[in-house]
Amino acid sequence: MSHAVERDEITGTATTGHEWDGIRELNTPLPKWWLWTFYATIAFALLWVILYPALPITGATGLLGHTARGEAEQDRLAQSAAAEPMLARLRGADPDAIIADPDLRAYAIAGGRVAFANTCAGCHGAGGQGAPGFPTLADDEWLWGGKLAEVEQTIRHGIRAPDDEATRSSLMPRFVADGMLTGAQANDVVEHVLSLTGRTTDAAAATRGAAVFAENCASCHGERGMGNREMGAPNLADQVWLFGGDKASLLRTVSLGRGGVMPAWEKRLDPATIRMLTVYIHSLGGTEAR
Ligand code: HEC
Ligand code: HEC
Repeated sequence: MSHAVERDEITGTATTGHEWDGIRELNTPLPKWWLWTFYATIAFALLWVILYPALPITGATGLLGHTARGEAEQDRLAQSAAAEPMLARLRGADPDAIIADPDLRAYAIAGGRVAFANTCAGCHGAGGQGAPGFPTLADDEWLWGGKLAEVEQTIRHGIRAPDDEATRSSLMPRFVADGMLTGAQANDVVEHVLSLTGRTTDAAAATRGAAVFAENCASCHGERGMGNREMGAPNLADQVWLFGGDKASLLRTVSLGRGGVMPAWEKRLDPATIRMLTVYIHSLGGTEAR
């Protein structure tokens, strides 16, 4: 049974034929703008699925070949292209010229600070304050020299780094372990070392130790124990200790040696980063006047 569509008298709109207690339901069409927007979203979704990796299939990239990894890589390339002019200036200038140029210096310190936190702080402490066995880089006590060129050399080639032929390599002998000194002689020489900072506990032993020192130690540490940077031999006559200045630590150093290892960074960091690190370490306040 069919009947003509009923129309509402007041609005002229077709009704659905449903009626409750004299109230009829109007069949108002969707507004055109709404309908077209709806179709547009469907078309957009279809296009998206075709162009971009939208399907849950491993390795799907869509027609555009887009990946989030690729996008990140592009960002990285754009960033390093933007940094390149500054980095090229850093590679080209020698460290002294960088320090003389306020812009370049600020740039190098900012970059060096980040690189230091990432690569060096684990051993040398945040801000280079050091730890037992790991020298402070923020003071003017240097094993191998604190001039810019010397610091850069140390960073490039490391200290006793096994994978770098140009590494700084002198080594404190294992005097007792290798039978070069008896335990008693080690005790005497340590008393002598303590006397260099006015802390000797046994004057007779210290006097005997002076002779042991002159014979075995002065060639590296200097006659009066002031250290020697050619050998990376620390000053023993100041209050700064790399491995501890108490008698037990000194005895251990003389008996077994130490042989601290600083990695070589030339193959792991690019030249601009090494330069920024050098300038950053200089900014910590310790590097000596050039
Ligand atoms: C694995 C630990 C370690 C890491 C990482 C490390 N160092 Fe060192 N560094 C050492 C040790 C150990 C020494 C001292 C070696 C010795 O006993 O003579 C040293 C010495 C140095 C010295 C020489 C200090 C002086 O008094 O002459 C400089 C400069 C230095 N490090 C800079 C750096 C920089 C810059 C980095 C980061 C790129 C870095 N180090 C990362 C362990 C480390
Ligand atoms: C071949 C050179 C050489 C000779 C010889 C030598 N030393 Fe050393 N000494 C070093 C070096 C290099 C270091 C530092 C770093 C390391 O081994 O990590 C050092 C470190 C030390 C330290 C640690 C200093 C600190 O700040 O903690 C003491 C103490 C010391 N030597 C005492 C002696 C005494 C005493 C003798 C003689 C019995 C002696 N050394 C002979 C090269 C030498």
